[in-house]
Amino acid sequence: MRRRLLPLPAIVLLACTAGGSTEDPVMAEAHPDGTPNGTALFQMHCTLCHGKDGRLGLSGAKDLTLSVLTRDEVSTVVAGGKGKMVGYRNVLKPGELDAVVDHVMALRSATPSARP
Ligand code: HEC
Repeated sequence: MRRRLLPLPAIVLLACTAGGSTEDPVMAEAHPDGTPNGTALFQMHCTLCHGKDGRLGLSGAKDLTLSVLTRDEVSTVVAGGKGKMVGYRNVLKPGELDAVVDHVMALRSATPSARP
């Protein structure tokens, strides 16, 4: 009986530390200076449908590297949502939203071969 009880706290501890960190330990919601980390926020909120490189296209999501939207239009879609995509107006703070939009715009140049 005593041997069965011992491992439990160890497992709980492990689960807690594992849950607290993201896949990549370098990724935090904000940079050390407090500015939002758009890449990390994108991975947290957007990769589910768009994938890490923006090209996954799950449940009808657009390939973000092929998007022709302007920065303002991307900002509007991310804030207000579109079709099956929910808006992130109430999830992300304005500064975070900006950082995510920056990341979305950067995805296009990160994979130039994806452009037609
Ligand atoms: C639940 C799945 C889902 C998640 C999560 C999601 N999206 Fe989307 N996204 C979609 C779908 C579906 C569309 C296509 C909407 C349409 O055109 O009807 C889309 C479209 C877009 C577009 C427009 C692309 C274009 O050229 O029309 C942008 C930009 C975008 N998403 C960015 C994001 C960002 C940034 C996040 C995270 C903050 C995010 N998405 C999270 C599903 C998702």
